[in-house]
Amino acid sequence: MTGLDSNHPNVFVIFGGTGDLTYRKLLPAFYDLVLQGVFDANNLKIVIIGRRDYNSQTFLDRALMGIEANARFKKEDLEAKQKLSQMVSYYKMDYHDLASYAGLREYLSSLFETAVRYQFYLAVAPSSFSIITEKLRLSHILEDVSAKQLLIEKPFGNDLQSAIDINAMILKSFKEDEIYRIDHYLAKEMIINIMTIRFGNQVFESLWKYGEIDNIQITATETIGVEDRGSYYDHSGALEDMVQSHLLQVLTLLMMKEPTDDSPEAIHTAQTEVLKNLELFDTIENSYIRGQYVSDGKVNSYRDEERVDPQSSTETYAAVEFRYNKEPFKDVPIYVRTGKRMDKAGTYVAVQFKPSKMYDGRELDPNVLIIRIGPDEGIYLRVNIKKPGITSEVQPIKMDFCQSCILENRYNTPQAYERLLRMALEQDHTLFASWDFANISWEIIDAIQKRAINNMLHEYEVFSSGPDAADEMLERNGHYWINDTVYGETFKF
Ligand code: BG6
Repeated sequence: MTGLDSNHPNVFVIFGGTGDLTYRKLLPAFYDLVLQGVFDANNLKIVIIGRRDYNSQTFLDRALMGIEANARFKKEDLEAKQKLSQMVSYYKMDYHDLASYAGLREYLSSLFETAVRYQFYLAVAPSSFSIITEKLRLSHILEDVSAKQLLIEKPFGNDLQSAIDINAMILKSFKEDEIYRIDHYLAKEMIINIMTIRFGNQVFESLWKYGEIDNIQITATETIGVEDRGSYYDHSGALEDMVQSHLLQVLTLLMMKEPTDDSPEAIHTAQTEVLKNLELFDTIENSYIRGQYVSDGKVNSYRDEERVDPQSSTETYAAVEFRYNKEPFKDVPIYVRTGKRMDKAGTYVAVQFKPSKMYDGRELDPNVLIIRIGPDEGIYLRVNIKKPGITSEVQPIKMDFCQSCILENRYNTPQAYERLLRMALEQDHTLFASWDFANISWEIIDAIQKRAINNMLHEYEVFSSGPDAADEMLERNGHYWINDTVYGETFKF
């Protein structure tokens, strides 16, 4: 049974629906799906819950502006706007107040005459997850439907204990297979592609299998600072904000064994197996570098950002050196780095293979596979070839495929939320984080944080490449960060 037929219509309820996420991501994604004919008023109604004094029309006026700014294509399509407007309504209530759920119950059940499926999307702080799920249960709303789903945004807790507590609370109202933990990185085209690139190419699969990898690097850097999220960010920092979720997901996809089949369970099991065997490569001082951006005289230091403690020791840059303690990868460093206000914005993976040696004894540049995740999407391989002419000189060249440079590819690549919403409504868990993943990844991050209390906080100037200590971490192993060159703004519509 898919989620998208009109015999089983869906009521998608967004708590915290007047926040930025709804305007920038969720409704533009639904709009794109309406344009593609996936949803209409026969199979989906969207209910926005908020405390503000809107009605459906005043909410829609704002929402349509968000769609014009953020939808992927045909931002001005009147027919699609009208269709979406028929699907969206605003329901004013305070979700802390149990009594008001009775009215919500009545309203939701009036939307379709047939049996429906409910999706509850919590775009609220994690501390409110249990408040809402408990009240949904106590008000009997959850009993009214043939199927129910819960979609939650990160952060899923702020350490292992809070994640365990939240999970235990929501499990009182929803079963594990009804819970969809969102990690939007999992819906990025080139992250989904990692499995195909690895397992769909004998040339790579055997290099992985026979341990021909020298080191792996995962980079996600941004030029933006913390923007208006200072109060959240100052209590989390780069390690929690990016590594615990997004970058460990990428790491596990890169290191996992081939799943036994294509089910979400098999993929998640293979991923968590990697986490269970992940450890720091060296001592905590050597393997975890923390940094914080400081002003260049024009742009603010982190400590001067709004809603950030002026004495803050939160890291805005993190570089970690892991190892996956299983053959054939035992001594292979896996470097992960992320930072805000860096010189370049780019997310990519670099897999450096063992050094190449020629029959005449020459040591050549190692082959490197780069998987570009964003903003450009693509893949390239660095190989050695002879320079043309009467010479035996060897030069490294790039065999380069820029996927997102091709208009048709951009057109066919959904935005992360477009894919996530569609898959959740199809009840497909593949691109959502499992509880095991959340649990073990928090265990890893907690352990690092506990051990790192004496780790230095390195300053780095805004728009630089980060602290020198992160370069030294690689130099100790004879490695260096592989910096990708990006195509630039080639893929705007
Ligand atoms: C979010 C983090 O999960 O991911 C942000 O909270 C970060 O701090 C963002 O900026 C990065 O996402 P993307 O898709 O722009 O790489």
